[in-house]
Amino acid sequence: MHFRPRYTGLIERYRDRLPIHDDTRIISLGEGNTPLIRLSNIPRVIGKEVDIYVKYEGLNPTGSFKDRGMTMAVTKAVEAGSRAIICASTGNTSAAAAAYAARAGITAFVLIPEGKIAMGKLAQAMMHGSIVLQIRGNFDAGMQLVKDVAEQAPVTIVNSINPFRLQGQKTAAFEIVEELGRAPDYHCLPVGNAGNITAHWIGYCEYSSASGDHVTAACSYCNGHCAYAGGAVVGNRPKMIGYQAAGSAPFMRGAMVDNPETVATAIRIGHPQSWEQAWKVKEESGGWFDECSDEEILAAQKLLAEKEGVFCEPASATSLAGALRDVKNGKIPEGSSIVCTLTGHGLKDPDTAIQQSGGNVHTIDASLDAVRKAILDGMA
Ligand code: F0G
Repeated sequence: MHFRPRYTGLIERYRDRLPIHDDTRIISLGEGNTPLIRLSNIPRVIGKEVDIYVKYEGLNPTGSFKDRGMTMAVTKAVEAGSRAIICASTGNTSAAAAAYAARAGITAFVLIPEGKIAMGKLAQAMMHGSIVLQIRGNFDAGMQLVKDVAEQAPVTIVNSINPFRLQGQKTAAFEIVEELGRAPDYHCLPVGNAGNITAHWIGYCEYSSASGDHVTAACSYCNGHCAYAGGAVVGNRPKMIGYQAAGSAPFMRGAMVDNPETVATAIRIGHPQSWEQAWKVKEESGGWFDECSDEEILAAQKLLAEKEGVFCEPASATSLAGALRDVKNGKIPEGSSIVCTLTGHGLKDPDTAIQQSGGNVHTIDASLDAVRKAILDGMA
């Protein structure tokens, strides 16, 4: 029998590239190591020669990429003696915070916009025993409240303004480079607060830096928490493309948006917290921002589910919606390699999925005849 070492999460795997001490108690649920799936049918559907991969972050323990950041943020909060964490959230951060707090044995307070988070995410926050504060306001209002209250109360903020979050999230870029043997030409992400696009860029820069693994000088993104020292770049780095939902697209407007709206509730954010960093990522990488309508987002979600068997939540499909449009219009040239991050699992938001699926559901008698007829009709 051949034994492989048990996978114990991204902190153990990338310990030498993360701000972790030998005796740090690691709070992990086995996050990271998610599949990079090469799309085999959609390129044919759109009639273009491109290598498109989706990084299926919905397969993290709580169903979104937030787990990568949360393992680091909660590990460091516990190391610092914190007994409680707090976040504002459109749903996924609160689910991850609740789960990792449960694992660590500390309290999580989560502020969510009433009526505007997907049911799966609310279920997670409730089941993991967090204290859920539903506010009559949106994510941006919640984020401001969290910042204000953390100045007066003994709670650690675990939103992506916590620098350890981005440190954990950068590991997604490491995994991609290790699997492809190089960075892709383009990396497409849905953008809300813009923490994740920033984290990926930190990861790609760090990995491609000539200065190696063990550099401790400050990088300009994270005030000394990562190993990227700047300096010469030896490996390739992707152009970073950030796609926003059209009703919540401050990077397209060039200014904050006060009343963001979109079916993709995860990215219903008008005041991104990593505003400056994301503009820098775009400049440095030679990428761009663009927006997708709710219709385009839902169409991409459905296309991916129907043609490739991959189910992601609406916000996640924004990366693919944008990428497919830019492949079709030639902005992304044929022959390119492209990675689209699918940030969250489709099961997070069953309501939207059921509403938009078109419902190929037939109620029939529980008889052999009825089933046989249904099969004949379905194959016709
Ligand atoms: N996709 C999903 C599924 C998300 O939940 C989020 C953010 C993003 C994309 C955008 O990532 O903010 O780093 O640009 N969700 C946060 C939350 C805001 O509270 O769960 P970003």
